[in-house]
Amino acid sequence: MIRSITKNDLEDVNNLLIPFNYYLNEESFKNEFLGVLLYDDSQIMGVLVYDLIYDRIEIEYIIVDSKNRRKGIASKLLNYLLCENKEIKNISLEVKKSNEAAIKFYEKNGFEKVAVRKKYYGDEDGLLMVKKVGE
Ligand SMILES: CC(C)(COP(=O)(O)OP(=O)(O)OC[C@H]1O[C@@H](n2cnc3c(N)ncnc32)[C@H](O)[C@@H]1OP(=O)(O)O)[C@@H](O)C(=O)NCCC(=O)NCCS
Repeated sequence: MIRSITKNDLEDVNNLLIPFNYYLNEESFKNEFLGVLLYDDSQIMGVLVYDLIYDRIEIEYIIVDSKNRRKGIASKLLNYLLCENKEIKNISLEVKKSNEAAIKFYEKNGFEKVAVRKKYYGDEDGLLMVKKVGE
């Protein structure tokens, strides 16, 4: 099941996020632009965090529990987000240039590499990837 986060989910969600140096707290719920979708099947297996800024979405990150990867969970979260926001024109994200699994995942889902952001992650370059929608 895909659903939005509630405050009761914070501990379980952070168990997934902390190894990747991400963290959500009660303050996150006050950010009107921030959205968090969960893939939940008796336990939380996937998290998609995004910003919805008027007619575009920026994906902050998608994280799927390591035991449950390559089962379509991230794709389902992304498709759900797009179906729920049909009015948007553009969806984008930054990803580490070395994160081949994520780059392949985004390419498979229709994103294109459009720019390199030099030293976006400290020592490492970032890739800006964009998917045009609603055209
Ligand atoms: C990237 C990530 C979210 C993908 O989640 P997922 O649920 O496994 O993805 P899906 O099952 O929906 O999609 C799988 C497709 O993505 C690509 N892919 C995913 N992992 C891959 C890997 N290790 N190597 C190559 N391609 C990969 C493939 O195209 C794959 O299709 P296939 O299985 O038919 O070959 C997951 O690997 C993850 O959580 N990684 C760690 C966190 C991270 O780096 N997040 C992205 C930063 S924004």
